[in-house]
Amino acid sequence: MSLRPASVDDLGAIMVLERAAFGGDAWSDDVMRAELASPHTWYVAAEDEGLLVGYAGLRAPAGSRDADVQTIALDESVRGRGLGREIFRALLDEARRRGVSEVFLDVRADNEPAQRLYTSEGFEPIGRRPNYYPGEGVDAIVMRLRLAAAREGGAA
Ligand SMILES: CC(C)(COP(=O)(O)OP(=O)(O)OC[C@H]1O[C@@H](n2cnc3c(N)ncnc32)[C@H](O)[C@@H]1OP(=O)(O)O)[C@@H](O)C(=O)NCCC(=O)NCCS
Repeated sequence: MSLRPASVDDLGAIMVLERAAFGGDAWSDDVMRAELASPHTWYVAAEDEGLLVGYAGLRAPAGSRDADVQTIALDESVRGRGLGREIFRALLDEARRRGVSEVFLDVRADNEPAQRLYTSEGFEPIGRRPNYYPGEGVDAIVMRLRLAAAREGGAA
């Protein structure tokens, strides 16, 4: 398993994983292409023997103190083995390189595995967006990580 930056060349393989992971909430090809092409984002791909098995993306415009975790997904066959944490940490490392002080994300209120991952990396819930995923009427939890605080061992 290895990590590398992702690019627009990975669009097809990423969309296969995107649709499998998010179904009706999946982004369109056009939205994902724009994400991968943007100078304000950084996407990482996880490969296993040349096959793309996971990806994650960060939005951190130049000069901004904030960043957003845009997405993270793995092929079902490789979940639960620590790869999600590894690519999530790669995003946080990139945020630090860009001088970001706070990272935000939205997560479905019913996505316990993802919430546990984020909490264990120091994120805390700061709000709730009702019906953010309207198809199923599911709320989003908004979470935040203060990077300076995380570096100092989690003290607020
Ligand atoms: C969320 C996701 C990226 C996590 O990746 P992963 O490789 O499965 O997770 P890891 O093996 O690195 O585990 C990291 C932590 O996540 C949590 N976690 C992972 N799977 C879990 C499960 N089935 N139940 C509860 N917690 C779980 C645990 O806290 C775990 O830490 P631990 O192993 O020390 O207990 C992956 O499950 C995935 O692609 N899910 C579908 C897409 C998705 O929901 N993305 C998030 C959108 S906000």
